[in-house]
Amino acid sequence: MSEKKRIGILTSGGDAPGMNAGVRAATLRAIGLGYEVVGVIGGYKGLIDNYVYTYKNGEEPDGNHYITPLDLKQYGKTSGLRILTERDVDDIIDKSGTILYSDRCDRFNSAEGMAMAAESCRRNGIMGLVTIGGDGTLSGATEFTIDQKINCVGFPGSIDNDLVTTDYTVGFDTAMNTVVEMADNTRYTCNSHCRGEVIEVMGRGAGDIALNAGIASGANAIWLKEDVFGSVEEKVSEICEKLDALRLEGKHDFTVIVAEGVPLDIADEGHGKLSEYLAQEINYRTGDADDEETEAKRAADPTNKKIFRPNYIETKFVRLAHVVRGGIPTLRDRLTASRMAVMAVEELHAGRGNEVIVEQNGQLKPIKITYSLSADKIYKLKLNKPYKDKGMLNAGMEKDYAKLQKKYDKFSAGLSAEEKAEIEAFTDAKLAEFRALCNDAKKIDG
Ligand code: F6P
Repeated sequence: MSEKKRIGILTSGGDAPGMNAGVRAATLRAIGLGYEVVGVIGGYKGLIDNYVYTYKNGEEPDGNHYITPLDLKQYGKTSGLRILTERDVDDIIDKSGTILYSDRCDRFNSAEGMAMAAESCRRNGIMGLVTIGGDGTLSGATEFTIDQKINCVGFPGSIDNDLVTTDYTVGFDTAMNTVVEMADNTRYTCNSHCRGEVIEVMGRGAGDIALNAGIASGANAIWLKEDVFGSVEEKVSEICEKLDALRLEGKHDFTVIVAEGVPLDIADEGHGKLSEYLAQEINYRTGDADDEETEAKRAADPTNKKIFRPNYIETKFVRLAHVVRGGIPTLRDRLTASRMAVMAVEELHAGRGNEVIVEQNGQLKPIKITYSLSADKIYKLKLNKPYKDKGMLNAGMEKDYAKLQKKYDKFSAGLSAEEKAEIEAFTDAKLAEFRALCNDAKKIDG
């Protein structure tokens, strides 16, 4: 075993631009503090596979020997451990994705998987882990610290900006800039053809990318879950009427940005995919009144969406999906990742774990992961509450709601009454802040 103590670094969940800047900074800072650095390849899975591989080969737990990146060709994935030197992290600061690879590892959620991962850390002298990722990564990190006594300090790497305790998650800025660039591109062609474009962007449970990039690209309508809407029918009518009014004022291009997290199948209305459906309805519902006979045909068969009105807004759709996860990391992402990584390593060096580095009002600080995840779950429960109160959640969403509640109960079990009260007030304020931004967007969507 190496004389030096080791710090491990892993990236897990959806990759995000800026993760590599974080890996670089964590590596350099840890080496600067006298550690040897282990890059965990393939997220938590890398720890488990390292254990399984060495166990299977009947090798002795003698340290260095176990540092073996595995090329698991049969799964098409790479996982294991490797030593990272200063030179290994040269020239990665401008690269999207993650040189450590990533995975969403279900096995790590089981007691058995976690024990294997912990054993892998112990055998390899890894005294702490910097864990970079979203809320799934943080859940794993807190349990690993508490149950297996391997200190983990994380920082949020996710394009979604969906962790309520931090004003910023690494990757968000690059993702928004990518969306803005794509929206600008579609706007030019829309203008030339007098068309509309529905652009669906990533952000699973969070509309942050859609809202901010929507404002910055001059969208004429933005549809998010956080901006509480009535039925799908009401929302679609509202958007179509808005665009039609703009058309009559002489507008030539129409951009609608929707967040993938909008539960379009809310209350089982069953409309399929959001962007396709909305584009189809804009085609069908906009335009000037047709002759009586055609309008009568439309009314007689509302499922036939092929009879367009004169001067309807011909509308296409694009789902940007994973395109939003690429892009050269912006200065904001490189800088925030680098600074969060330094702080994460220093927290581990000070012997602390179960922490996530967050940004609040421009300041970086470590907070307890359990506190952070409790706040996050409560925030998401509050987001869904208006729909639940109106009986709008379908069976699947009811299930998710119950899961969120369970997670909140779990993470908040160790929190004091004061901490819980603080979380209540904090999340109320965050919700109000987000809704105020939604309202601002509507004031400039002409
Ligand atoms: O968590 C980030 C994210 O990009 C979400 O916005 C999106 O819903 C999800 O990951 C997609 O995950 P996958 O890469 O597994 O398709």
